[in-house]
Amino acid sequence: MSIGLFDSGIGGLTVMKQIIREFPNKSIVYFGDTLRVPYGNKSEQIVKKFSIQISKFLLKQDIEMLIIACNTATSYALKSLAEILPIPVIGVINPGAMAAKNITKNKKIGVIGTKGTINSKAYEKSLKALDNSIEVFQKACPLFVPLVEENLINDEITFLVTKKYLEEFKSFGIDTLILGCTHYPIIKNVISKVLGENVNIIDSAIETAKVAKSILKNTNDNKKFYKFFVTDYTEYFLEFTSKILNLDINNIDIQKVSLED
Ligand code: DGL
Repeated sequence: MSIGLFDSGIGGLTVMKQIIREFPNKSIVYFGDTLRVPYGNKSEQIVKKFSIQISKFLLKQDIEMLIIACNTATSYALKSLAEILPIPVIGVINPGAMAAKNITKNKKIGVIGTKGTINSKAYEKSLKALDNSIEVFQKACPLFVPLVEENLINDEITFLVTKKYLEEFKSFGIDTLILGCTHYPIIKNVISKVLGENVNIIDSAIETAKVAKSILKNTNDNKKFYKFFVTDYTEYFLEFTSKILNLDINNIDIQKVSLED
């Protein structure tokens, strides 16, 4: 049996990387909805529909746990998926909020994410439920996902966009920033450079993997495999998967599937 993960594109691979770290002997099935990326500017109803379609597909792959490796899908669909699926379902929001609450000293926490995640106020609710005196400063950063998906990670333009989005956080005096989108850890260095090293950066991927570890045993799987499903195949997906997960590009099993029919 394997662990299933999904995201709109390559962002969830940051979560997969941490899952591999926690479960080195487990099989993993990853689904990237590359045809329909981005999710961040789509409606709740549509993101929920896509999330249910993908989860049903992954269930047929015999997964024993589902990790929603996407903040937008977690914001909109975690509750429904947890109700529908007969296996444990974990999202990326509560683990990130918990880590931020544990690390902040001045209780001023910034959250960046897609428009969907920020508008849903999922992080704010989660943080306030943990400690009502926490001040939350939120900002949608919709250009980050296309910059990452377009492989402009080390480009000057990413630095300029980051400065434009995050400069205001300096005046808020936050001591902690949650990367509320699984694409953002890919540009974590740029974000850190703009905010300075005094701000703690919370990567929900790391925290989510720890939560998964507390629920699932790291059983030995003699025939461990990694399988990737996408709704649109590109060389970039293959190259990025190889790079981030440190896998031999010739041994990556990616299948293109259609969920519409
Ligand atoms: N990586 C996803 C997230 O964490 C989705 C980004 C998008 O597709 O807009 O929200």
